[in-house]
Amino acid sequence: MTLPRLLFRDANAANPLAAFPFPTPVLWLEVGFGGGEHARAQASAHPEAALIACEVFENGICSMLADLVPLGGEATAALPANLRLWTDDARILLRQLPNASLDRLFLMFPDPWPKARHAKRRFVHPGQLPLLARVLKPGAAWRVASDHPVYQTWVREVMGAQTLFDAPEPVGERPPDWPATRYEAKALREGRSPLYWTFTRRG
Ligand SMILES: C[S@@+](CC[C@H](N)C(=O)[O-])C[C@H]1O[C@@H](n2cnc3c(N)ncnc32)[C@H](O)[C@@H]1O
Repeated sequence: MTLPRLLFRDANAANPLAAFPFPTPVLWLEVGFGGGEHARAQASAHPEAALIACEVFENGICSMLADLVPLGGEATAALPANLRLWTDDARILLRQLPNASLDRLFLMFPDPWPKARHAKRRFVHPGQLPLLARVLKPGAAWRVASDHPVYQTWVREVMGAQTLFDAPEPVGERPPDWPATRYEAKALREGRSPLYWTFTRRG
């Protein structure tokens, strides 16, 4: 009963800000929110921004909903006004969003698909950059984090070979205002070293 109250629907894609019950010009999108820690923390820290959080993994969606509402409050508990959930492939939504509609895009610890033959499944991909560039406003930030050495090398290669984004070197420590995620905690526990990139859509 909580999900229908939070769902970002196909019909909202052409005019995404109208899906939020308050006026704001600021729209952010997170791809693959996992358990939702980052999305909830961002929504809470930035009530001025409307955030669409995307996830296809059912357990992740359930975890997000369970942390948003107390048991028994599914139909009535207050929900964050600035958070909506897209429960399908984020790429389907991205293809439907208007040009220059996003102020910020978050990609926190994407699935690495480390085998070379699966590289086309990686979210950071040369074939996908024009779509991301289309929906991001000039000057918009695209944040990417990864702990996987194959994916880290891949991001460096892909972003080093394109002209749509400014792509400075990543940092090895999570910047302020990047809430932690469950997957990051696991990576650190297991001794891996995440990298954090901030790309900027060129104007
Ligand atoms: C390795 S997990 C990281 C989850 C979370 N960001 C974190 O850091 O804890 C990657 C997540 O991205 C989701 N995902 C992958 N591709 C996606 C897509 N195209 N659209 C929506 N979610 C996606 C997966 O279901 C998975 O839960």
